[in-house]
Amino acid sequence: MQTIRSITKMQKAAKQLAARGKTIALVPTMGNLHEGHLSLVKRAKKSADVVIVSIFVNPKQFGPKEDYKKYPRDEKNDMARIKKAGGDIVFIPKAIDIYPDNFQTYVTVEKLSKTLEGKSRPQHFRGVTTVVAKLFNITRPDIAVFGAKDFQQAIVLKQMTRDLGYPLKFVIAPTVREKDGLAMSSRNRYFTAEQRHQACCLYYALRTAQEMVKSGIKDVRALKGEMRAVIKATSPKAKIDYIAFTEFDSLKPVSRADKSTICSLAVRLYNVRLIDNMRL
Ligand code: PAJ
Repeated sequence: MQTIRSITKMQKAAKQLAARGKTIALVPTMGNLHEGHLSLVKRAKKSADVVIVSIFVNPKQFGPKEDYKKYPRDEKNDMARIKKAGGDIVFIPKAIDIYPDNFQTYVTVEKLSKTLEGKSRPQHFRGVTTVVAKLFNITRPDIAVFGAKDFQQAIVLKQMTRDLGYPLKFVIAPTVREKDGLAMSSRNRYFTAEQRHQACCLYYALRTAQEMVKSGIKDVRALKGEMRAVIKATSPKAKIDYIAFTEFDSLKPVSRADKSTICSLAVRLYNVRLIDNMRL
């Protein structure tokens, strides 16, 4: 496995691979990798000759009050895990190279960035789309793999890929969960054991909605009411930011849920903001 830290070296390597007829898959990450990230590497490996995993804690997608500085970083461990999962190149650019002095060009997906997460995190998706566009430009992937865990992020990036005409296959891979249902996330490590248990409230609420829809209850107001009750019962301290029922690709809200609806929610728990979602 090769480690590349320079943008020009990465560009050169990608060009050489393409010239040799090799297909490239890109898995962008912010490091501190868990099984969720590694499932994307394994998925990428199935569809391309060479898998590039980028590690870059992107300052532009963190709000002023968010955890950029304390976001967990563990490069050595990450490298070992990527190697084991089948990654071929780890690309670790420096912030000063991605955002040189006087940087002023951003990529914005206008509508999809404004709803759900975008309401609570106004500049977040602009940071995500800008960095991923840069990573696409540097690595020229034939396939890019993202996780359904960050469902809106995936939809926003898929739209960007289409709108800007990147010639790549866009894959959204399923959410990997802990045994008790909690979606794996780098932020789970901020919790104590008791808090960690309460974090399952998102999963329990989503499963409740899924079961209700299956049993024929489709009114979104009723579903939301039950979800709120489940969250309160599991974690009385949890603060619900939003619970949304939307169409999958357009993120348009629906008033009646069906199999094609996706339910997503954000909950603040002991100062950690958690998100999760489920197809109903
Ligand atoms: P990060 O949070 O490190 O996540 C990297 C990728 O892993 C994303 O596509 C995310 O959706 C996926 N992922 C995270 N947890 C997962 C889980 N439990 N199951 C499946 N996939 C999971 O998302 C980002 O970084 C950044 O915004 C990035 C796209 C790298 C741009 O900076």
